[in-house]
Amino acid sequence: MSVLLVQTSAIALVAWLLIRYVAKLARKPKLDMAYLDFEDGDNSLQRYLNSTCDLLERGYEQYLKKGLPFAMFNYMDVSTPIVTLPVKYLGEVRSASASKLSFTSFLNKSTVAEDIGAPLVTDRVIHMVRQDLNKTLNELIEPIQQACDQVLQAVIPPCPDWTPVNGHMLLWPLISRIMTRALLGPELWSNDEWHAVVMSYFQAGHAASQRVRDTYRPWLRWTAKYFEKEVKAIYAARRKGEDILQPLIDARIADAVNRANNSQQKPGFNDAIQWLVDSYMAEKKPVKAAEIMQDVAFLLAASLQSTTLNSLSMLLDLVERPESVAEIRDEISQVYAQYGSWTRQSLGALRVLDSFLKESQRLNTFQFNTMQRRALEDYTFKDGLRIPAGTSIVMPSRLLGRDPDLHTDAAEFDAKRWKRMRDQGDATKFHFASLEDNMLPWGSGPHACPGRFLVQEVIKIIFMRLVTKYDIKFSDGIESRPPDFPQHAGSNPNVMAMVLFKER
Ligand code: HEM
Ligand SMILES: *[C@@H]1O[C@H](CO)[C@@H](O)[C@H](O)[C@H]1NC(C)=O
Ligand SMILES: *[C@@H]1O[C@H](CO)[C@@H](O)[C@H](O)[C@H]1NC(C)=O
Ligand SMILES: *[C@@H]1O[C@H](CO)[C@@H](O)[C@H](O)[C@H]1NC(C)=O
Ligand SMILES: *[C@@H]1O[C@H](CO)[C@@H](O)[C@H](O)[C@H]1NC(C)=O
Repeated sequence: MSVLLVQTSAIALVAWLLIRYVAKLARKPKLDMAYLDFEDGDNSLQRYLNSTCDLLERGYEQYLKKGLPFAMFNYMDVSTPIVTLPVKYLGEVRSASASKLSFTSFLNKSTVAEDIGAPLVTDRVIHMVRQDLNKTLNELIEPIQQACDQVLQAVIPPCPDWTPVNGHMLLWPLISRIMTRALLGPELWSNDEWHAVVMSYFQAGHAASQRVRDTYRPWLRWTAKYFEKEVKAIYAARRKGEDILQPLIDARIADAVNRANNSQQKPGFNDAIQWLVDSYMAEKKPVKAAEIMQDVAFLLAASLQSTTLNSLSMLLDLVERPESVAEIRDEISQVYAQYGSWTRQSLGALRVLDSFLKESQRLNTFQFNTMQRRALEDYTFKDGLRIPAGTSIVMPSRLLGRDPDLHTDAAEFDAKRWKRMRDQGDATKFHFASLEDNMLPWGSGPHACPGRFLVQEVIKIIFMRLVTKYDIKFSDGIESRPPDFPQHAGSNPNVMAMVLFKER
């Protein structure tokens, strides 16, 4: 009797589970679009690592140009395909609420950040970059120049004769130190121990992301911190970073307390550590080094690699074009003669340089995709296109920049393209940090990169210094930038590229 009961209940349970499962399947909207893969049948992970860009190019021509989306294997989240959307959905994606189409969730899913103890973007950090950093940019121009000059001396050896320097090995320390000066104040940018901690955090983060994402089932990933040495290394770097930050945080708390007692007192600091301390204090929350370390780590993760690879690409484009170098130098001396110093305003007058940088970014930005979002619930666009919950969507930033229907003579590097557009049309548009719907290197809308104004000033100062202090060229026999390295959905500038420098 009881055996029969158990059997019946077991059958009932199985039937119930089955019905639920089928019902769930039926409710799940189908991804109703073309699915692209490699036609020769090699659809291995390695293939997606080295040839995704080819597939994206095919999809752009075959589908996006006709206004149709397409799906393909998602290297960063093998559980669901990733969807590339044509630009007609831009307006809807940029205004969609973050509770429906989420950038944070996209990052979390593709890097497994939360499971390995790595940072995610927070509203606190976004607000800080948009408001506090933006307001401070004017005051940062001077310290950025000083940091740039000091670091340049250390990374380019004295070179009375042509001297080869690896472009990436030059730009990484230059940019990580300048950005640290601009973002984190006067103490850390020249602190080698801090830079070593950041470096080990990045390396561990990169390795842990890949390892845990590719070898752990999603529901077991939280256990990785007990087993994986890379994840342990993340926690170790965090603790070291917190120790270095603690006295800086204490100094800023003291400064804030002092100001609270004396309203005439000006802030003694104006940097992200101060802004974060102020923000926690304003919310009457305890100020914890652990939380500040994570916010700072996200800030650096968003800043360093992206700015370094973009400027490496720009440097290689510039070395290839001596005529642009000459024009940029002329402009620099004219503008300096007119203004007498470098400020945001005089940097803004460097229109030839600005146009060059933007043109390089149009053709050679390394990221194929921006506007990355993950649907947190089933999402239906106005025309009926349905994106099931859990699916990631992106837009084809780099291919838009190269589309001949969107840019005249799109294949040509036209260094003064954007300057002409400003001279002939609206001078307040088409500068390096402007948002363009027909290329999207910074994304678009309320979540567009808030760091782009800082990037604009930093890169301009670096290039201004490079071309005024040095002559630059490739080795004899090399005429153009060495080939990019395709890596998943990116076309990275060649990190092995050597540039010859000679003091002027
Ligand atoms: C050349 C360098 C950089 C490039 C190409 C770049 C590009 C981007 C892109 C494409 C997005 C996503 C926008 C979207 O999907 O709509 C983004 C977001 C973001 N970037 Fe940048 N970025 C750069 C440097 C920086 C720097 C230096 C900072 C900080 C000072 C920064 C802070 C952020 C933050 C906080 C977000 C998140 C914004 C949000 O979700 O509201 N970025 N960036
Ligand atoms: C990319 O990876 C595949 C392995 O799937 C290999 O056959 C192919 O030669 C690789 N291509 C390049 C350009 O490295
Ligand atoms: C990140 O992903 C993990 C699962 O891997 C999840 O538990 C967590 O809630 C996610 N966090 C955010 C902010 O999306
Ligand atoms: C940041 O500064 C830029 C340039 O000065 C300005 O165009 C932009 O509106 C500012 N952003 C915010 C959020 O204040
Ligand atoms: C600020 O004022 C309070 C009350 O007047 C006093 O107890 C405290 O010591 C003062 N703190 C500083 C840092 O001056």
